[in-house]
Amino acid sequence: LLHVSRRKPLRAERLQIGYILGEITDLLERAAGDAVQMAMVAAPDLWSSMIDPAQFETAVLNLVTNARDAMPLGGTLTISGTNLRFSAGEAAVLDLEPGEYVSLVLTDTGIGMSPEVLDRVFEPFFTTKDAGEGSGLGLAQVHSFAKRSGGTITIESEPGAGTSVALYFPRCAPARAAAITPQRRPLAERTRLSARILLVEDDLRVLNQTRLALQEIGLQVISARDGEAAMQALRMRGDIQLLLSDVVLAGGISGVEVARGALALYPGLPVLLVSGHAEEVLEKFGAIDEFQLLAKPYKQAELLALLVQMLGPQALPATP
Ligand SMILES: Nc1ncnc2c1ncn2[C@@H]1O[C@H](COP(=O)(O)OP(=O)(O)OP(=O)(O)O)[C@@H](O)[C@H]1O
Ligand SMILES: [Mg+2]
Repeated sequence: LLHVSRRKPLRAERLQIGYILGEITDLLERAAGDAVQMAMVAAPDLWSSMIDPAQFETAVLNLVTNARDAMPLGGTLTISGTNLRFSAGEAAVLDLEPGEYVSLVLTDTGIGMSPEVLDRVFEPFFTTKDAGEGSGLGLAQVHSFAKRSGGTITIESEPGAGTSVALYFPRCAPARAAAITPQRRPLAERTRLSARILLVEDDLRVLNQTRLALQEIGLQVISARDGEAAMQALRMRGDIQLLLSDVVLAGGISGVEVARGALALYPGLPVLLVSGHAEEVLEKFGAIDEFQLLAKPYKQAELLALLVQMLGPQALPATP
């Protein structure tokens, strides 16, 4: 009871939820379990919100755990972040102020909920799970967190048709120019590209670094940690304009296979593979000369030059 009545104060910081998700991908994947395929699609230009990162993590972990429990035989969990503008009418429906919001939506292909269950999910201690398996506090806490963050939560669900949980957080004002790290500006100003890239990399640190570098020059980055997730992203969305993949990936599907799968779906899609022992590795996969290759370690400028070349002049936005 103490937990419910005594709320932890919010320690909100100006944060982009896509960034937090990137940091806790591993944790979420472990929580989702092996049977669940997890796909994350956070728009790279997501706005920032005032969010308590620790409570945000707990909330997302709760939702992922619920999704896993709803998919005992496996399924798919999609986590996506989107910028939204609510008109007065739209906001009223959600009991929010009109304006700009960032949404985080978790959609599972699980058992879903009956209207009777759906009606009560935010009640503390309401659970359909066996004693010891659920305390019924998860969604009550997520609901309280969303409200206290100035946002809200909505749930759509139907028995047998899965569940979609959406959290909304108000956008916070852009940081003042002075707050932008000065030494990172020049590069971003020299090169601007506009295109949507699928980045496949199993090393989380490299993934985050590369994603930041690409975002800095204006690219929209959809990231995947293994071949399976990459193929899922490719199948799910038809708007990817370039595939950038490590050749050697954890999880059984290599970058070469992802590249071949991508081309089967989208013939002519520009593909760039990166690899440490490039020649040997491509030989092993029987893919010598099949794809454009960048040897690791590479300089950021080399990667940018290749991307400009591959994406073509249409990726360079007209200078304002
Ligand atoms: N993604 C989902 N799919 C189907 N049913 C769900 C989903 N999320 C929640 N529920 C239903 O809502 C109930 C309440 O969820 P809540 O997270 O509050 O508690 P719990 O998961 O039962 O227990 P706890 O989170 O405290 O371990 C669940 O028992 C379940 O019946
Ligand atoms: Mg729960």
